[in-house]
Amino acid sequence: LQSEAIATLDAASDAEAFEAARVKYVGQKKGALKDIQKQMGSVAADDRKSAGMRLNEVKQAIEKAVAEAQSRISGGGESGADPTFDPTLPGVRPTIGHVHPITQTITHLTEIMGRMGFEAAEGPEVEDPHHNFVALNIPEDHPARDPLDNFYLATAATGAEKRNVEGTRLLRSQTSTVQIRVMANRKPPIRVISLGRVYRPDDPDATHFPMFHQMEGLLVDTNVTMANLKTVLRVFATNYLGGDVEIRFRPSFFPFTEPSVEVDFLWDGNWIEFGGAGMVDPNVFRAVGYDPEEVSGFAFGLGVERLCMRRHGIKDIRDLYSGDMRFLSQF
Ligand code: PHE
Repeated sequence: LQSEAIATLDAASDAEAFEAARVKYVGQKKGALKDIQKQMGSVAADDRKSAGMRLNEVKQAIEKAVAEAQSRISGGGESGADPTFDPTLPGVRPTIGHVHPITQTITHLTEIMGRMGFEAAEGPEVEDPHHNFVALNIPEDHPARDPLDNFYLATAATGAEKRNVEGTRLLRSQTSTVQIRVMANRKPPIRVISLGRVYRPDDPDATHFPMFHQMEGLLVDTNVTMANLKTVLRVFATNYLGGDVEIRFRPSFFPFTEPSVEVDFLWDGNWIEFGGAGMVDPNVFRAVGYDPEEVSGFAFGLGVERLCMRRHGIKDIRDLYSGDMRFLSQF
């Protein structure tokens, strides 16, 4: 029986022949093996053990042949053997992720500023007081250094009264830190932007979030004026927001610029504040070893979320960081 069954199974060349052979030898009801099994009861008790063993051998050999014939006929591969696989059904489309709207904005802003000759620079998010304050002409008693307005890290040196000592670290509260890092390492002329995260302990609402992004710009050369600053910002805003955007400077104060202004863009009939700017303060030039008699420059810092929200009509900054796919997949 064994050799007959194996030969028949090996010879089966299509599904029909295979199925017939399968039923004939290993079918649950009338299969040849079942028949023999039924007859085991009539074998003499002494022979039953050896007869059973022999039956098992035959059974295993035939089952092996069945399995081989089956995989050969159904195309060999394991997937081909899956009876639930229907190649005619439409496929399931894999979900494709995409770049976060803020990352898209950063890429876009970098591109626009790149066309005006500004190259991108980076600085660390964990900063020391020198880069975040001291070199930016922010004195020790300045309220901007208050622990209530900054995320000081719990290093050994940290504490309200120890916040100025060596070893103090904080999450940078502004990207102006990168101005210092760039100027300390290069000679003018300089034309850089720096886009990145900044941190301030603000309660989240529609326009505030404890982490957000800024685009810092810095241009240092000879004979740089406010008019240059205004032009660069106007060209930038027109490119990013579309249409012709007007710029308004409102007098303001920043320790690291003199004069300082707040920057509003007139867009769609409304004046909207986007950030701060000004001419680099001579004290900042001195802090990085430049001679303020020789060089001049401007700097600006714009809110990236605000730009992105204006361009896309986003009403609540928290939507950007909610991780809600219904919101994010729109961009
Ligand atoms: N760093 C300032 C802020 O965070 C913005 C600024 C940048 C102002 C550069 C002037 C020059 O508010």
